[in-house]
Amino acid sequence: MRDLSWAQRQRRRWTGLLPLFVGLVVVAELTFLSRLDMGKNAAMVRRWTSSFHFPSDSAPLDDGGDDDDRRCEDWLEREDAVAYSRDFRIDPIVVAGAEQQDWASCSVGCKFGSGANKEPDATFAHPQNPAIASVLRSMESSHYYAQNNIHVARRRGYNIVMTTSLSSDVPVGYFSWTEYDIMAPMHPKTEDALAAAFISNCGARNFRLQALERLEKLDIKIDSYGSCHQNRKGEVDKVETLKHYKFSLAFENSNEEDYVTEKFFQSLVAGAVPVVVGAPNIQDFAPCSGSVLHIKELADVASVAKTMKYLASNPDAYNKSVSWKYDGPSDSFKALMDMAAVHSSCRLCIHLATKIQEKEEMTTEFQKRPCKCISSKGTVYHVYVRERGRFEMQSLYLRSGGLTLKALESAVLTKFKSLNHMPIWKNERPKSIRGDDNLKIYKIYPVGLTQRHALYRFNFDSDADLRKHIESNPCAKFEVIFV
Ligand SMILES: *[C@@H]1O[C@H](CO)[C@@H](O)[C@H](O)[C@H]1NC(C)=O
Repeated sequence: MRDLSWAQRQRRRWTGLLPLFVGLVVVAELTFLSRLDMGKNAAMVRRWTSSFHFPSDSAPLDDGGDDDDRRCEDWLEREDAVAYSRDFRIDPIVVAGAEQQDWASCSVGCKFGSGANKEPDATFAHPQNPAIASVLRSMESSHYYAQNNIHVARRRGYNIVMTTSLSSDVPVGYFSWTEYDIMAPMHPKTEDALAAAFISNCGARNFRLQALERLEKLDIKIDSYGSCHQNRKGEVDKVETLKHYKFSLAFENSNEEDYVTEKFFQSLVAGAVPVVVGAPNIQDFAPCSGSVLHIKELADVASVAKTMKYLASNPDAYNKSVSWKYDGPSDSFKALMDMAAVHSSCRLCIHLATKIQEKEEMTTEFQKRPCKCISSKGTVYHVYVRERGRFEMQSLYLRSGGLTLKALESAVLTKFKSLNHMPIWKNERPKSIRGDDNLKIYKIYPVGLTQRHALYRFNFDSDADLRKHIESNPCAKFEVIFV
């Protein structure tokens, strides 16, 4: 009996949530791309103006208003603290259709596999039961498996897409600090051939074979260990072998955005400059500028060959292209790799829990939160911030007099420092690039953006842009990436 009603409740929850999933993605895209979501903004304004009032039971004190500000904050802390109905520590996110596993280190309760005495929140299965969110998870290129294309997957009814695409809901990449010893030291380049290739199959849905042949025609000496154009014995340790070459031909089997496999990351470990046929945006994955050569199209082969020859005969120039091995990779590279410091399964649970809370925030109780108050010094805005990869939000207060990007960053730093916050990648990154104990912000963005958007596209254009966002999103929620 009890189980039945529980199941019914679950079903209602998901039935209500499903259109929301699609809706939210669309709304998020529209809101953040065009910021023209007028209807929503109008509703927000109505809500703010009608519900807000700060009970000023005593006159402002003669302290310049600081106490008044603090009272304002205390009041907001109380008034905005509406409890969510589900405590994920007691009632964790459950994802079925996978091996039994308790993701205990995840910052939200997160269990895989069935067996729990309730319906799961999501399942790695074909969309079937509309009451349960269906998740598509694959690391294969959508050029080979069309069903992995995000739009195709959505059309087929998947609510959550996990692919190598950073535009998917929960990206699953080939990279992580633990999988690849990215900062492994450089070795002397003892091989005569300029480049090594490990291509097991000459056929591919791109021009990698033609590129290989053209390089050879241009007198680039290539040692080929894979079965494609093989001229060296194949049974070798790939990374150990690559270490002795200046270049590595990291030729993927398809040229798809964000589809970057071990071929590329093993080249980085080995300190062999990757020459890439593959993701059109491969430079997003470069550890620093000038560290990756990209053959975007066949016509590029000649100029890339020229660059290879130049670098091969100019030690200083070559050394520059691997300078990240000595000086550390760029912040942009770290911010990308750090994403994988949290397992994709945990990131899936965080994604699900966030959606569940977002839905609840549509209820009247949450809509009644004041989210701002007016002290003698001006308006105090309540916003929430969490680190990417974690679930729990921290409260922050911003003042109308200083509603700037700088002020937001400084408030975030102050808050997280006061909590002795340790970045989520601290124990994952190679020691040499863990930095000191100071927190450094790479990016702050609204919760809900895809990683492609967050890492490479999104920025508040100006203080006015940030102000507009905070004013039109009461109790705005942000994510911060520390580097
Ligand atoms: C390459 O540059 C690094 C500093 O970036 C230096 O420590 C190293 O000795 C250089 N190596 C060569 C072979 O010049």
